[in-house]
Amino acid sequence: MANQRNIEDYWCDAESPKVQLWFRNEESWSPEDERWTTRPDVTFVREFLAPRFSGRRVLDLGAGSGRFVHLWRAAEVELVSADWSPPLLKMLEERSRAHGARSEALDITKGPLAEEFDLVFATMFLIHLHPSKIRAAIRNIDRMASRHLCFTTWSEPGCYDDEGTEKLQSFSHDYPTLFAEVGWKPILNVGVAYGEKSLEEKNRLWYLEKG
Ligand SMILES: C[S@@+](CC[C@H](N)C(=O)[O-])C[C@H]1O[C@@H](n2cnc3c(N)ncnc32)[C@H](O)[C@@H]1O
Repeated sequence: MANQRNIEDYWCDAESPKVQLWFRNEESWSPEDERWTTRPDVTFVREFLAPRFSGRRVLDLGAGSGRFVHLWRAAEVELVSADWSPPLLKMLEERSRAHGARSEALDITKGPLAEEFDLVFATMFLIHLHPSKIRAAIRNIDRMASRHLCFTTWSEPGCYDDEGTEKLQSFSHDYPTLFAEVGWKPILNVGVAYGEKSLEEKNRLWYLEKG
């Protein structure tokens, strides 16, 4: 079974194939690229969330190399972006500094930041938390959220929270149960399609309020 150490190396070791792939993608990534600007989570942040949270405190969790930083800052959100991967954090720090925002190193399975946010946002993130760690992560997220949360999720039918798996990424969680356990009430729970592959049934966007 994959352990947390294997998963940490996969995301955090600069030599890992995953991080190397991210570096290669970063070379060709552009904030103007239509494949990026039309992504549902990008559109939702730009058109709805960032303007709504203008001047308020937002945590972007598992922010990777910081591709969302300019979207939040264009609406003058008071932004903190967090990730656990030192090589990705380096890029995240640079982008945050360039846009007048903050970045923090954080492994969400180990604890929260000692701060509260008007909105905790995470896209393409919960999917990568191991089933044995997802409940600890959700509790830590809950401690930082004063009221609103927004996530994109992916899951196959037949989730396996609390079970073992050989996988290092893309875990399928039972989100309705996990969110209900901490008292997060869905305001929006909608299917979203990424790219040409229409995965509306698997990809969802959640906007939640603490009970
Ligand atoms: C698929 S990337 C998504 C990045 C960004 N949200 C985006 O859409 O561009 C997943 C991110 O989650 C981070 N991550 C995975 N496990 C984490 C953990 N336990 N604590 C903090 N960050 C984690 C990875 O380092 C990676 O940057």
